[in-house]
Amino acid sequence: MERDTIIVLDFGGQYTHLISRRIREIGVYSEIYPYDVSIGELEKISKLKGIIFSGGPSSVYSEGSPLIGREFFVWCKRREIPILGICYGHQLIVHVLGGRVNRSAREYGKSVLHVDNKEDLFQGLEDGEVVWMSHEDQVSLLPSGFEKIGHTDNCAIAAYRNTRDNIFGVQFHIEVHHTAKGGKILKNFVEGICGSKPTWRMNDWIQETIQNIRKTVGDARVIMAVSGGVDSTVAAFLIHEAVGEKLHCVFVDNGLLRKNEAKQVIEEFKNLNFEHIHFVDAREIFLRKLRGVVDPEEKRKIIADQFIRIFEAKARELEGAHGKFEFLGQGTIYPDRVESAATSKSASKIKSHHNVTLPQGMTFKLVEPLAYLYKDEVRKVGKLLGLADDVLWRQPFPGPSLAVRIIGEVTEQKLDILREADAIIQEEIQKSPFKDKLWQYFAVLLPVKTVGVMGDARTYENVVAVRAVESEDAMTANFAKLDWDILERISSRIVNEVKGINRVVYDITNKPPSTVEWE
Ligand code: XMP
Repeated sequence: MERDTIIVLDFGGQYTHLISRRIREIGVYSEIYPYDVSIGELEKISKLKGIIFSGGPSSVYSEGSPLIGREFFVWCKRREIPILGICYGHQLIVHVLGGRVNRSAREYGKSVLHVDNKEDLFQGLEDGEVVWMSHEDQVSLLPSGFEKIGHTDNCAIAAYRNTRDNIFGVQFHIEVHHTAKGGKILKNFVEGICGSKPTWRMNDWIQETIQNIRKTVGDARVIMAVSGGVDSTVAAFLIHEAVGEKLHCVFVDNGLLRKNEAKQVIEEFKNLNFEHIHFVDAREIFLRKLRGVVDPEEKRKIIADQFIRIFEAKARELEGAHGKFEFLGQGTIYPDRVESAATSKSASKIKSHHNVTLPQGMTFKLVEPLAYLYKDEVRKVGKLLGLADDVLWRQPFPGPSLAVRIIGEVTEQKLDILREADAIIQEEIQKSPFKDKLWQYFAVLLPVKTVGVMGDARTYENVVAVRAVESEDAMTANFAKLDWDILERISSRIVNEVKGINRVVYDITNKPPSTVEWE
């Protein structure tokens, strides 16, 4: 499809994908490529209007740091393609083109930008804009043909331009919300400097994705893991649009679901227009495999492996009647892959999301149409596909389910306790005005016993933690400032109605430094 494209070269930065996402929000198509992509690959992009170098954890001086040769800049100049470097990208440009980068005092967090030139990249900015820094090295000498266009108190060359070759650089991160005018700067680059037209729409993405799935799957069959959650439902809709009755959806009751959840999901899927839906009752096997396991990563791995074993067995069972199942469809989204360190060689692993850490020797090939989207983008796709609001706005629920909300060993009895406590939280918050403001709210069962007094008698029972967070995309989250009356109602109902609990605490940590789920 002919459309203006901006590409982002990935140097291993934590926010690389956000750059691409922000460009799409402007309405211009954007894709990420590894930093060492060949010029031949780039030649294939018909309307390539600009290139952004992402940030990254390296120093241009460290051994093995990702570098780019001078010939790349020569090619861009010949093709009249502007370049913007961000953070490491900003330093790399200077390093390769003959300037100097110095080790300096680390600068992390908010900083104030003094704008020295407002002609192009910083058009429309005021002096003293808040920007977000995260670096150790900084540019100390610009190559010839470059001029400084911004500085901060700690960083003498926080931004530069070279108008002859159309090269720009910013030391700060324009892709994060903390840089107040980051969107404006990006728009100045994408539209003003690169001349891209904001004509790209999510509907184009849907049509292209459907065509790609069709091409990839060909005559094969797809077995698709569905949970009733928004990601897997939207992914299933897309795959179904592409391959129709060649899609077989499988919903697994792993025995770790919330109160009444399995029944509800089964009912819901029965009402959808899919030709093949299968339900697998695997409660017993999951619980057996989890017996005695306390380590969070081990729980996650066992659950991920078991899911795949079930899909493999189901595929074998169906093969005789329907043909070969070459593909496994999944609703994996971008943050799942970031946290499982699947997006970049240099990223750090936070936790193994069940649909990313797949067992070795798995024979399926993957179809993951949402792999580059964030949850709010998935919801937009779902809306365009006609999904009902109650599916679109359902709270995210982790694949390893309640197993990562029971700290310590998972048992049937603990699951029952957690389900009851969780149902009370759901009920109380859904009655409250907070319902639509929260990303997630749930209960966590702690392996801690404390003393209480009920009906004049001593109790010695477990603690439940209440977790409620606000978030835009789950990459960061803030604990919700719920009102005391609601918390009090939740607490007294749990202690009164759930046998085995005599104390309720509220989790008041943000992500980072915590994560949303406790394991
Ligand atoms: P954390 O706990 O990493 O969670 O801050 C971020 C978001 O991801 C959800 N989550 C998962 N989703 N498979 C999933 O599909 C998983 O293994 C998984 N682990 C966490 C979590 O509920 C939150 O919305």
